[in-house]
Amino acid sequence: MPMPKVFLSRELPPRAMKALREGCDLTVNSEQRVLSTDELIRGARGMDGLLCLLIDTIDADVLDVQPKLKVVSNYAVGYNNIDVAAATARGIPVTNTPGVLTETTADFAWALLMAIARRVVEGDRFTREGRFTIWEPLLLLGSDVHDKTLGIIGAGRIGMAMARRARGFRMRVIYSSAREPAPDLLGDLLLERVSLEELLQQADFVSVHAPYKPETHHLIGAAQLAMMRPDSYLINTARGPLVDEAALVDALRERRIAGAALDVYEHEPQLAPGLADLENVVLAPHIGSASLETRTKMGLLAVGNLLAVLRGERARHTVNPEVYGR
Ligand code: DGY
Repeated sequence: MPMPKVFLSRELPPRAMKALREGCDLTVNSEQRVLSTDELIRGARGMDGLLCLLIDTIDADVLDVQPKLKVVSNYAVGYNNIDVAAATARGIPVTNTPGVLTETTADFAWALLMAIARRVVEGDRFTREGRFTIWEPLLLLGSDVHDKTLGIIGAGRIGMAMARRARGFRMRVIYSSAREPAPDLLGDLLLERVSLEELLQQADFVSVHAPYKPETHHLIGAAQLAMMRPDSYLINTARGPLVDEAALVDALRERRIAGAALDVYEHEPQLAPGLADLENVVLAPHIGSASLETRTKMGLLAVGNLLAVLRGERARHTVNPEVYGR
């Protein structure tokens, strides 16, 4: 029996590549850049499955390639890059990779929080530039983290993993979310649910963990930034367009908030004008889940999802399960 044909939009970690090569007839894009719609269409044409990244825009035009794709497997938990409604209308399952990157992403959100609060990156630059000539009482004073209030926006897996880590810092943790956390995620955490406004007014550290969808576009805009305290910090490891980045640059420049640490950007990989010139920001290149272990687990899960559907089974994680059995 011939193996199913799959187009992969970028090389994955080695174990995932091995699993893919063993399970399908693979074509891999080798360009180190974002593929255009035309390139994605050309890549997906004649394929049974598409394994794509969060930087690939999978819209109706891509989903219309013939013969019809049997599955689109996203190498990410977030799937705002895919027009899921269009996939559902065409009966194409869309799969994602939840769970395996939760702890790694929460670790990284904490790394960013600590880095901005304690001015780690500024300190590194200062030292490398040979400016560390004497110990000074007022050198690079930051903010304590312990005993402060952490505000978590979004009570999903990563938000709750972020909250769990705050225990070691004896923090008060408040959260704002459209939904209560699932009991298994909440465990024995003692959290206070507050409105978004209350969270922004009270938190020393605001950490964004909400999914991005049309309703959450600019969840943190100029009005929300104005509610934050001048000594507070914003951390975003979720999706860039949750935050109005131009408004954030203004708030940071005018010191209306103390700082921000970002792993994601509104127009990724571009930064809002002026963002990179600010000292009170820490900027990372969307590497929240970037450990070898986790990227490998994501790869194996994305491959497992893809091959399951190509075998005629249900994938472990399908964001539009209503397409099965149609
Ligand atoms: C995701 O999976 O959605 C992250 O943004 C990348 O790991």
